[in-house]
Amino acid sequence: MSQDQWTAVERYFSDQLLPSDPALVAALESSAAAGLPAISVSPLQGGLLHLLARALGARRVLEIGTLGGYSAIWIGRALPPDGRLITLEADPKHAEVARANVARAGLDRIVDVRVGGALDTLPRIEAEGGDPFDLVFIDADKPSNCDYFRWALKLTRPGSLILVDNVVRDGTVLESSSDNPSIVGTRRLIGLIHAEPRVRATALPMVGLKGYDGLAIAVVMGDGSVPPRGGARR
Ligand code: SAH
Ligand code: DHB
Ligand code: MG
Repeated sequence: MSQDQWTAVERYFSDQLLPSDPALVAALESSAAAGLPAISVSPLQGGLLHLLARALGARRVLEIGTLGGYSAIWIGRALPPDGRLITLEADPKHAEVARANVARAGLDRIVDVRVGGALDTLPRIEAEGGDPFDLVFIDADKPSNCDYFRWALKLTRPGSLILVDNVVRDGTVLESSSDNPSIVGTRRLIGLIHAEPRVRATALPMVGLKGYDGLAIAVVMGDGSVPPRGGARR
């Protein structure tokens, strides 16, 4: 299978199954025009985020890594009118582009873009004392993934989902002796999840528009009643 085939398959399913949404198209176009990197989630990944938020009946979602707001629009579209997506972005220019894209999508009352390094913003969100988040999507700097996952655990409840993007990265996640900080960050995250009794998790390696990459997905259990790992090998 070649990248062309993966792209064609992604296009087939997105044409067949995903709603057409001019605000999503405009978000990608304006992000490109503003010089933002083309690293938003793919349409099918956006569709998955949307579907999971809906299936959970999510009212409060946290995203770490906004970029131009493409994934935020997918998630925001799944929330009720009084729902809230708080999305954290370090780069003021990205946040500005995202705010315009979110407003164009009519989601500015639902999506709250917070500018600043996520590790500075997260303690403020905790101090605000809002309800726990139903879903957390981690998609920012990969070396901080363990910190973000610990924060996600702190800010969720049993039944919440935590998703982490880019855990496969062309298979480089297997490079156990790599000193690439992103690979190290991802492998440490997987080790952390492995050792964490409060979650059950799996990974979704995917091929598509963005090549070979994937998501880790964890459900928060909360009571430590999880059986030990390793029994599901076949
Ligand atoms: N979720 C977006 C893509 C995010 S790309 C989408 O699918 O549309 C990763 C983003 O994380 C970039 O915009 C980058 O500026 C931001 N980022 C990097 N380090 C960060 C940090 N420490 N805190 C908050 N955002 C950060
Ligand atoms: C990069 C970051 C992402 O979140 C992504 O989905 C793809 C690429 C990057 O930093 O290169
Ligand atoms: Mg990503």
